Amino acid sequence: MTDTSQQQINTIDGPIRLLGIETSCDETAASVVEGGRKILSNVVASQVEIHAQYGGIYPEVASRQHIIKIYPVVEQALQLAHITLDDVDGIAVTRGPGLAGSLVVGLNTAKGLALSNQLPIIGVNHLEAHIYSAWLDHPERTSDVDPEFPLLALIVSGGHTELALMTDHLDYQRLGGTLDDAAGEAFDKIARLLGLDYPGGPAIQKAAVEGNDRAFSFPRAWLEDSWDFSFSGLKTAVLREVRRLEETNLPLPVNDLAASFQAAVVDVLVNKTLSAAREFAAKDILVVGGVSANQSLRDRFQQNDEFKVHIPPLVLCTDNAAMISGAGYYRFIDGQRDLFDIDALPNWPLSEI
Ligand code: KG4
Ligand code: ZN
Repeated sequence: MTDTSQQQINTIDGPIRLLGIETSCDETAASVVEGGRKILSNVVASQVEIHAQYGGIYPEVASRQHIIKIYPVVEQALQLAHITLDDVDGIAVTRGPGLAGSLVVGLNTAKGLALSNQLPIIGVNHLEAHIYSAWLDHPERTSDVDPEFPLLALIVSGGHTELALMTDHLDYQRLGGTLDDAAGEAFDKIARLLGLDYPGGPAIQKAAVEGNDRAFSFPRAWLEDSWDFSFSGLKTAVLREVRRLEETNLPLPVNDLAASFQAAVVDVLVNKTLSAAREFAAKDILVVGGVSANQSLRDRFQQNDEFKVHIPPLVLCTDNAAMISGAGYYRFIDGQRDLFDIDALPNWPLSEI
């Protein structure tokens, strides 16, 4: 639901500047971005240490942490950008997908700030925001030029594994996605099985560096004739191997298991994305979302010589609010202004934006 008439826009005479707010999962984040690319501030308050004690995200704890952190985080983002709310043109806020109780904290904060400062709000899809992290300026960007359309986007996060074709800004054709676990979820579950820390992605990556990725030949679900993914067979295979090894009473070869598991995930993600890019004659590839922080995945994509692959710098792979302001900018210049009764959309697929 959009409304272009009800809310006024502050004087827009410089580049459009949006405050972004992100609270979809376990990071409380706020950021100020100019023109969809220039990051003036990017503040992330992570709850990782709190959730690590539970071995995963505890939704009620996440919402309550957002309530505690959101205003200090917003204030810090404005301070670091050396501006006040008088200097922003609107507020972009994550509307979904994500945890309902977490999303409403960000949405209500955005509504309160927007109402009291007569600013428009723009509800942003979190998956679209991960995509727009590839347009943000950063000294560690893997490419010094913007992504070119048509492009193939692989979104790999804790909650999603999606393959989409983009022929223009804000235009997505969903090709496929995971039929069971998301790639990040598989990393988190296998890490727990191997006795590694939460979140599992960085822990598996670290263990894998010391391991042999050919020690175990775990299955790759190619799912021929479809652009979907599946990680449940791989997960079961690792579980079976761990149970078998436990019976030997020898120490578990954690590093080899981690390396072999990671290799199986990376193999499927890279090969299917490259095949889709060929099939749809894409010029470029984007790899975004938390799992795109994985060094092995990054290396494998960068080793290809057919496509330019844009992968955000590590700080922009995992959840942040700069990407929310970035995507919000493209929505804003497209005329999107949301009403103050917008609700959270915990299950908001890319195909339904
Ligand atoms: O995008 P994100 O920060 O949050 C969601 O939108 O879900 O992604 C979090 C996921 C977690 O599952 C985490 O284990 C995974 O990204 N992750 C990684 C790495 N860093 C984070 N997975 C593999 N390798 C990494 N280095
Ligand atoms: Zn995310």
